[in-house]
Amino acid sequence: MRIAVLPGDGVGPEVMVEAQKTLDALAAKKGFRVEYRTGLVGAASLDKTGEPVTQDTLDMCRECDAILFGAIGDPRWDNAPAHQRPERGLLRIRKEFGCFANLRPIKVYPALKSMSVLRPEILEKGVDILMFRELTGGVYYREPKGRTTVDGQPAAVDTMLYTEEEIVRIARVAFTAAQQRRKKVTSVDKANVLASSQLWREVVTKVSADFPDVTLEHQLVDSMAMKLITSPSHYDVVLTENMFGDILSDEGGVLTGSLGMLPSGTISLAPPSFFEPVHGSAPDIAGQGKANPLGMILSMSMMLRYAFNMESEAQEVETAVERVLNNGYRTPDIVHARAEGVEVQLVSTQQMGDLVVAELG
Ligand code: IPM
Ligand code: MG
Repeated sequence: MRIAVLPGDGVGPEVMVEAQKTLDALAAKKGFRVEYRTGLVGAASLDKTGEPVTQDTLDMCRECDAILFGAIGDPRWDNAPAHQRPERGLLRIRKEFGCFANLRPIKVYPALKSMSVLRPEILEKGVDILMFRELTGGVYYREPKGRTTVDGQPAAVDTMLYTEEEIVRIARVAFTAAQQRRKKVTSVDKANVLASSQLWREVVTKVSADFPDVTLEHQLVDSMAMKLITSPSHYDVVLTENMFGDILSDEGGVLTGSLGMLPSGTISLAPPSFFEPVHGSAPDIAGQGKANPLGMILSMSMMLRYAFNMESEAQEVETAVERVLNNGYRTPDIVHARAEGVEVQLVSTQQMGDLVVAELG
């Protein structure tokens, strides 16, 4: 297993250490070999090279089966020109490797129920959503993009554009996933206003004809933002474009209690595929041992599942995480989650990683 490790900025490096530790423990137990190649990205790369990602890092990633990515973003570069924003590094990597289908599972851990912003009677109905966010198209990437002038006024433009092919390929992945689940896809768009959304709706409807066992519904993004909170149990697979998915997946994060818990995985056109936690670089707590490494560890388990087809190993990691939570261990972000029958214990980033490793046995 050859893995590119890109710890990035803020809390990225410290949560990455815990994911690697967990993977190493699993590899030792199961007898597989892991080889890491570590590279710079984001502000870490800007500081050393002047670029948010270098050709060297991209070449290194290309030689690997999968990329494990920590976090990106640093307030020191907040006012830098677009090409020197740390985030550019991440966007470049996604594009370079055709990382088009970003999977963000949203589920509630029984041990963290009391952290959810949802009322208990809503939570009781269950939350288990698999969100598919298109990741290499739309307003994040299309041209024209940037500063301009209109009527002598400073102005700026971004372009929301989708081709049929871009919509078809992610829709097929989402429908295929739904066949293994509760057989329902909710496609989210803004078809009452946006032309790109009208095409999105048409194409998704066309694709659905090839999946007669899956029910398709369409939902406008504004009402989706509301319904995700009022009736999350209604949703199974959610399919949406890049920016809507960015926004809705953070919302999904707080439904479950903490953004620190949320993993993501991205399927690409060809290896390497790409795995990163949904949380950001959290510069305010970086380097203090306060970050929750579970989103990163769970992203690593998504890598086992989707990049290496190691379903039972992925489940072992997920079960270990669940046991640690059930035993009452909490990083600061989830310390207010009550534990049943055991005392809550505040732990550091590193201790949390050690506990997961210990549960792996
Ligand atoms: C995410 C992040 C990124 C995005 C940023 C850091 C560029 O918010 O992965 O959700 O907007 O895609
Ligand atoms: Mg985001």
